Amino acid sequence: MEVVVVDNLENTRIDVLDGIESITGKRPNFKQIDVCDSNQLKALFDEFSDIGGIIHFAAHKSVSESVNEPLKYYDNNLGGLQQLLKHALAKAVPFIFSSSCTVYGQSDTLPISENEPLKQATSPYGSTKKIGEQIIEDCCRANPDFNAILLRYFNPVGAHPSAKIGELPKGIPQNLVPYLTQTVKGIRPVLKVFGSSYNTPDGTCIRDYIHVMDLADAHIASLDYLLKNKNTSSCEVYNVGTGRGVSVLELIQTFEEATGEKVPYEFADPRPGDTVSAYADASKIEKIIGWKAKYSLEESLSSSWNWEKNLNS
Ligand code: WQD
Repeated sequence: MEVVVVDNLENTRIDVLDGIESITGKRPNFKQIDVCDSNQLKALFDEFSDIGGIIHFAAHKSVSESVNEPLKYYDNNLGGLQQLLKHALAKAVPFIFSSSCTVYGQSDTLPISENEPLKQATSPYGSTKKIGEQIIEDCCRANPDFNAILLRYFNPVGAHPSAKIGELPKGIPQNLVPYLTQTVKGIRPVLKVFGSSYNTPDGTCIRDYIHVMDLADAHIASLDYLLKNKNTSSCEVYNVGTGRGVSVLELIQTFEEATGEKVPYEFADPRPGDTVSAYADASKIEKIIGWKAKYSLEESLSSSWNWEKNLNS
């Protein structure tokens, strides 16, 4: 199967293709397209008329940024999804959607299963994922030939073991791990830990940090499952996490043990939009699709550090 990468390069660099080529030995087709642009998308679907499947990642993803710029998130994340769905639906192309555990809001039960009722999302980012899921479910209901899988990611971290591709936040990183690795590298003076008095064992927020390599495998397994028509309903939902909750302080300690580096940090006020604790019950995807996270947190954080050290070197 040929891969076509579609990206507007707003939040990455074109040289990521060099890394992919170096790892796989094959340079993917690339189209610099904004999925919000209907004309560009039409040209794409005209050029590639026999698309076998779509994995839709293109969206803004910072919880904190979305609190400050809600319209940027609603416009881009939902506008782009609807433009893409028009084409996917018309040709009944199997569709994998990058959703998020933020759709649960602050769940009453932990670990969180897919049956957990969706509460008010704690950020506009989470709302775009929740509304996006609803849009896709409605499209599946309207067109029985259209099949989709909604993957609710927990916290993606890490980089490719080769350190040739990884996370490339532009400007000040919003997420914990890239901010941490930039601090250890000396780019940032100190890591601020947002909140130290939450109702958790050590007072800091708890998340389920999943290696991006595991996350990639979950997408391949999910698309393969759809392509082989194994799905029993037209729209299926799966958590993608390790099932292990880790606090911010535990992550810092794990990073220091895994790398031998010291993380300079200080406590700061809680961050608006943050949930206190979220980690997955990931048993459904393991049982039905046959995927399970393989990498440890130590491996994830070591790969993040190797990637950071390799950047611009
Ligand atoms: C993690 C923890 C912060 C930065 C992410 C993705 C989102 C979604 C869910 C996929 C929180 C704390 C952070 C810092 C800190 N994933 N923190 N200092 O907000 O859980 O959301 O996972 O869709 O796309 O963004 O991740 O890494 O921003 O925060 O203390 O400088 O680290 O308060 O408790 P978050 P995050």
